[in-house]
Amino acid sequence: MMLRHMEVLWSALVSLLLLVSEGMVSGVSVKVGNMSKLEDATYFHIYYGNTFKVIKNDLDGKSYLLIQNNSKMAPKTKYCTPRIKSFVIPVSNFSMDVSYFPVSFFELLGLMPTMKGITSENVASPCLRKLYNEGELQMLNSSEPQIFSQYAAHFISYNDDRETQSCNYITFLPMEEQAPLQRAEWIKYLGVFANMEVRANEIFDAVKRNYRCLVNSAANKDLKPVVAWMEFNDGAWSFTEEVYKLKYIEDAGGENLDGSINQITYNISSIEDLEQLHAILCTVDVVIDGTITPEPFGYNASLFLQNLNIEDKSCLGFLPSQSVWRHDKRLSVDLALDWFDGAVSQPQLVLADLIEVLFPSGNYTTTYFRNLLKDEPPISLGPENCTRDTLTAMEPTIITCV
Ligand SMILES: *[C@@H]1O[C@H](CO)[C@@H](O)[C@H](O)[C@H]1NC(C)=O
Ligand SMILES: *[C@@H]1O[C@H](CO)[C@@H](O)[C@H](O)[C@H]1NC(C)=O
Ligand SMILES: *[C@@H]1O[C@H](CO)[C@@H](O)[C@H](O)[C@H]1NC(C)=O
Ligand SMILES: *[C@@H]1O[C@H](CO)[C@@H](O)[C@H](O)[C@H]1NC(C)=O
Ligand SMILES: *[C@@H]1O[C@H](CO)[C@@H](O)[C@H](O)[C@H]1NC(C)=O
Ligand SMILES: *[C@@H]1O[C@H](CO)[C@@H](O)[C@H](O)[C@H]1NC(C)=O
Ligand SMILES: *[C@@H]1O[C@H](CO)[C@@H](O)[C@H](O)[C@H]1NC(C)=O
Ligand SMILES: *[C@@H]1O[C@H](CO)[C@@H](O)[C@H](O)[C@H]1NC(C)=O
Repeated sequence: MMLRHMEVLWSALVSLLLLVSEGMVSGVSVKVGNMSKLEDATYFHIYYGNTFKVIKNDLDGKSYLLIQNNSKMAPKTKYCTPRIKSFVIPVSNFSMDVSYFPVSFFELLGLMPTMKGITSENVASPCLRKLYNEGELQMLNSSEPQIFSQYAAHFISYNDDRETQSCNYITFLPMEEQAPLQRAEWIKYLGVFANMEVRANEIFDAVKRNYRCLVNSAANKDLKPVVAWMEFNDGAWSFTEEVYKLKYIEDAGGENLDGSINQITYNISSIEDLEQLHAILCTVDVVIDGTITPEPFGYNASLFLQNLNIEDKSCLGFLPSQSVWRHDKRLSVDLALDWFDGAVSQPQLVLADLIEVLFPSGNYTTTYFRNLLKDEPPISLGPENCTRDTLTAMEPTIITCV
C-alpha cells in the first residue's frame, strides 16, 4: 500500500518535471555518456531529464530533484518536503556526518575540493585526516545541526526518517545493500550530485571487472573450505547473518555454515550450547572472528580461545592450520575501522583478501584481514599514511587477476 503510494508520487513527480522542462530553452543538455545506468544496486533509482535529474533512495523513500546550475529552472525551483528535496548541481560545497561514513566513495570520485566540513576527526581515511590537518575542513559539532545549513548539502549515512531532517540533507546508504558489488555501485549515487557520472561509471566498471575476475579465479578451486564468520557478544557466540558477508565467502570459493544451524546464539556458560558450538566448529576450516571490541590492539589469540571456552581442541582444524582471522587490520589510532569505509567502495580488495584467507598462497599481503593465530596486530592509520595530494582523486586498487 505504502509502496504503491510512493510509486504514484514518483511518477507524478517525473511527469511534472517533464512538463516543466519542456519548452525551456537551455544551453545544457546532458551528453550521452554522462549518465549512469544501474547494474547491481537495488535501493536507488536515477531518472534523467534534459536539465535535471531525479534520484530516488528507496531505503528512506526520499527523492532528490537535481537541477543543473545553468538551467533556467535552477534559481526558480526549490522543493523541500519530507519526501522531495531539490538541489542545484553540481553541488558546490558540502559537509558530512562522518561516523561510519564511507568517505572513500568521495575520495574515488575526487570530491575533496568541495568537501568543507566534517563532524569528527575519528575517521579511518588517512587523506581525510590530512585534509583536516591542512585546514581544508571545518570541524562541525553534530549537536548543533543548524551549522550544517551553511553548506549546499550535508551527507548523512544513517537512515534518519525524521520529518525534521533539514532541506540540505542527503542520505547515502551503501551499507544497506545486500551484496558487495551492490554496495560499491553507490558511487554512481554520488556521481549524480557532482555531474561525475563518467568517472563513477569508470570506477564501478573497473571494480566490478576485477571483482568478477577474482570470483572466477576462486571458482576453479575444487575443495571449498567451510567458513564460520562469528561474533562473541555478552557471553555468547553467534554466526553472522549479514548477507554481504555470506556473499563474500561464496564469491571467494568458500562454503558458509548451513543455514539451519546458523540461526542460534550459543551461550558459553551453558553446557548444552557449548557442546553444540563445539560440534559445529569441528566441521569448520576457517574462522573469521568479527567480535566487536573496544580494544582491537589487545584482541589476540588467547582472548579468542578464552572466549571460545572449549577445552578439548583436538577436532578444531582451524587451530593447527592457523586459520582464524579478524577484519580489523586497518584502523585509525582512535579506532575507526577502514572496514566501514575503504572496504565498502572497493570490495575487490576484500575478496582478494578472502581468497588468500581460504586458499593461502603466502604470497599475498592482505589489506583488511589479520591472522589472529599468527599474532598479526592491527595496523594503525594516520595522516602520514596519505600518499597522494589530498585534493586529488584516489584511484581504485586493481588486484592482479588472470
Ligand atoms: C555551474 O557549476 C560549474 C561547476 O562547478 C561552475 O564552473 C559554473 O560556474 C556554474 N555555473 C553557474 C551558472 O553557477
Ligand atoms: C557541541 O554542542 C553541544 C550542544 O550545544 C555542547 O554541549 C558541546 O560542548 C559541543 N561540543 C564541542 C566539542 O564543542
Ligand atoms: C556553499 O555553496 C552555496 C551555494 O553555492 C553558497 O551560497 C555558500 O556560501 C557556500 N558555503 C560555504 C561555506 O562555502
Ligand atoms: C560530462 O562528463 C564530462 C567528463 O566527465 C564532464 O567534463 C562534463 O562536464 C559533463 N557534462 C555534464 C553536463 O555533466
Ligand atoms: C549467557 O549466560 C550468562 C549467564 O547465564 C548471562 O549472564 C548472559 O547474559 C547470557 N548471554 C546471552 C547473550 O544470552
Ligand atoms: C593477549 O592479550 C591479553 C590482554 O590484552 C594480554 O594480557 C596477553 O598477554 C596477550 N597474550 C599474548 C600471547 O600476546
Ligand atoms: C608466489 O608468487 C610467485 C611469483 O610471483 C609464483 O611463481 C608462485 O606460483 C606463487 N606461489 C603461490 C603458491 O601462488
Ligand atoms: C602508517 O604509517 C605508519 C608510520 O609510517 C606505519 O607504521 C604504518 O604501518 C602505516 N599504516 C599502514 C596501514 O600502512
